[in-house]
Amino acid sequence: MKATYHPGVHKYALFLVAWAVVLLTAGALVTSEDAALAVPDWPLSYGTLNPPMVGGIAFEHSHRLIAAGLGLLVIGLAALLWRYEERPWMRWFGLAALGMVTFQGILGGLTVLKLLHYWLPVMHACIAEIMFAILVSIAFLTSHWYMQDLPQYVDQGTPSIHFIVTLNSLVIFLQVLVGAGFRHKYLTLKPHVFGAPIVLAMVIWTAAVLRRRFPEVPEIGRVRKLLHSIVGLQILLGLVALWARINSADDPQPMFPVVATTVIHTVVGAVLFATSIITVLVCDRLVPRRREVLFATTKGEVPA
Ligand code: HEM
Ligand code: HEM
Repeated sequence: MKATYHPGVHKYALFLVAWAVVLLTAGALVTSEDAALAVPDWPLSYGTLNPPMVGGIAFEHSHRLIAAGLGLLVIGLAALLWRYEERPWMRWFGLAALGMVTFQGILGGLTVLKLLHYWLPVMHACIAEIMFAILVSIAFLTSHWYMQDLPQYVDQGTPSIHFIVTLNSLVIFLQVLVGAGFRHKYLTLKPHVFGAPIVLAMVIWTAAVLRRRFPEVPEIGRVRKLLHSIVGLQILLGLVALWARINSADDPQPMFPVVATTVIHTVVGAVLFATSIITVLVCDRLVPRRREVLFATTKGEVPA
């Protein structure tokens, strides 16, 4: 269905993406500064909205405030989509984002109340990355580029490009999951370190197939290069984070180099996963699925 481009809605969605980057950084700082239980109660902090901002409380409470800010902003996003969107599934997507941010907030609270047990911090870390990808997707799906008429390209290869880019996202997500498992002391580092070459191989394969099948499509070229550079940066950051950890193993933690490198590694992990989802959406927008091609051909309409 054709939809109208609303620059205001798109810009608002981009603002939420920026806010979410700040929130991911604030959340990762809570973990790295070991401040998760600095505030023992929830939804209030020490029974108030304005506790003394000292020590770990400053990290934990500011994370809660920035998260509450995102919650309010997502209510606005869902309302804007409901009001202005012509695509029914986009309206529901806005509501789904609202449901997700609410769930994530409650999960954060439970993480504290249940004293970091039951894999809750791992779930909270992983849903944060999904939440970020949802916001980036909404910004992309409301962009002028997505709404305009675009040429369509036929996928000649097997497995289909849609399968490959989706698998790529799944592999990256599994790597995030085992990274969070290690970060929150539920897993050893081994699965995450072994996962890194698998992620790298998956990204190289995805990018190579995209180049081979769609050499002339500039948008596909762009996401391909982005995937390559971000995965390279992320592996480098992972190595530096590990080196900082080993190097300061005997020092009193949290040490600045360990905090800085792990926080950046966590946030860039979210950026990598979101980029892989954008790759899925770009392919979905430009490359008709086989059954769509078959349907159009049997109706006598060969896709452009
Ligand atoms: C609603 C949006 C929220 C998002 C996107 C979010 C995101 C994050 C992220 C990215 C982390 C870091 C995870 C890691 O480094 O592994 C984190 C940690 C944490 N968040 Fe949130 N958060 C949200 C809401 C909340 C709320 C409302 C609370 C309420 C208490 C909360 C409590 C925590 C705690 C305690 C940690 C540290 C967990 C640990 O160190 O084990 N979060 N959050
Ligand atoms: C290939 C791509 C990689 C991705 C997508 C990735 C992603 C992540 C993410 C998202 C986290 C934090 C999880 C959370 O939110 O709690 C994490 C943690 C971690 N990653 Fe990676 N990672 C990658 C590669 C690597 C590599 C190559 C190394 C080093 C050999 C590494 C070392 C670490 C370490 C040490 C942590 C825990 C940080 C800490 O709490 O001290 N990562 N990774």
